[in-house]
Amino acid sequence: MTRNTTESLDTIIQGFPWKRGDEAVMANQDYGAMLNMFKQVQSRQGIVLKAIDIPMNPSRDEVIVDAYRKAITPKTRLLMVCHMVNITGHILPIRKICDMAHSMGVEVMVDGAHAFAHLDFNIKELNCDYYGTSLHKWLSVPLGAGFLYIKKEHIDKTWPLIAEGKTQPGEIRKLNHTGTHPVATDLTIMDAIEYHNMIGIERKEARLRYLQNYWVDKVRGIENVVLNTPTDKRRSCAIANVGIKEMKPSEMARSLMDDHNIWTVAIDGVGVHGCRITPNLYTTTEELDRFVEAIKEMV
Ligand SMILES: Cc1ncc(COP(=O)(O)O)c(C=O)c1O
Repeated sequence: MTRNTTESLDTIIQGFPWKRGDEAVMANQDYGAMLNMFKQVQSRQGIVLKAIDIPMNPSRDEVIVDAYRKAITPKTRLLMVCHMVNITGHILPIRKICDMAHSMGVEVMVDGAHAFAHLDFNIKELNCDYYGTSLHKWLSVPLGAGFLYIKKEHIDKTWPLIAEGKTQPGEIRKLNHTGTHPVATDLTIMDAIEYHNMIGIERKEARLRYLQNYWVDKVRGIENVVLNTPTDKRRSCAIANVGIKEMKPSEMARSLMDDHNIWTVAIDGVGVHGCRITPNLYTTTEELDRFVEAIKEMV
């Protein structure tokens, strides 16, 4: 258990047994905190970073897999990939990326911040080496809980973020020393899992995709509206991003909040210019209708 995705993934990025000149592959659309940790390791340990751009509307999964493959060289040791890109909602073909990377001798670390308890999947079937997520996102645990999954064979070679005393070989506890920690949040996790299971992940995923498709289908095709999320409905779920030509995302988010009382997140970089729209299970279609009207008014 960790405090969040950042702690989970940064534990691996800083704890990986890097040698000077080793290479890591990632994407410009990855989350800033992890990119910053890679840059810090680059400064301290002389590793080389290769960032790709994720194609938004791939005709096949292989288009994405190939984009990552092309960045791999004989010096590549670790590949970081988002299960769901937070600025666009794009779901990436993790299993295929892992199989490709492994065939080239590269380990894969998955940023699952937005996919866990949102999509119906099994981490073991993804065949990744490391998976980090936050439980305060789609599992709806109070702020401050996450986890790190690590294949047992990688535990011994990974340096902990905070040193632990001697542990047995293969013992994950060595990565989990955090000092004295308030347990209140941790104690809610079992209740959150029970609630999550009561709904069922299949129904949860279906409801979240339904809500996103509901508003996206109503704004798609409106002149000057730009959707920054794949058009193939299997490649996204609750999260989508919408922009308006000639309108700054920050101005769009401000108007949505001040004029319509709708909270969104403005994204303005790496080819994505728009607001991230994130309904949750309790969002109603009436609320989404109000959002659609707001978009039409702004256009
Ligand atoms: C893709 C992605 N990775 C990592 C994080 C970091 O999550 P946390 O702040 O819970 O560590 C986020 C947060 O939004 C995210 O969207």
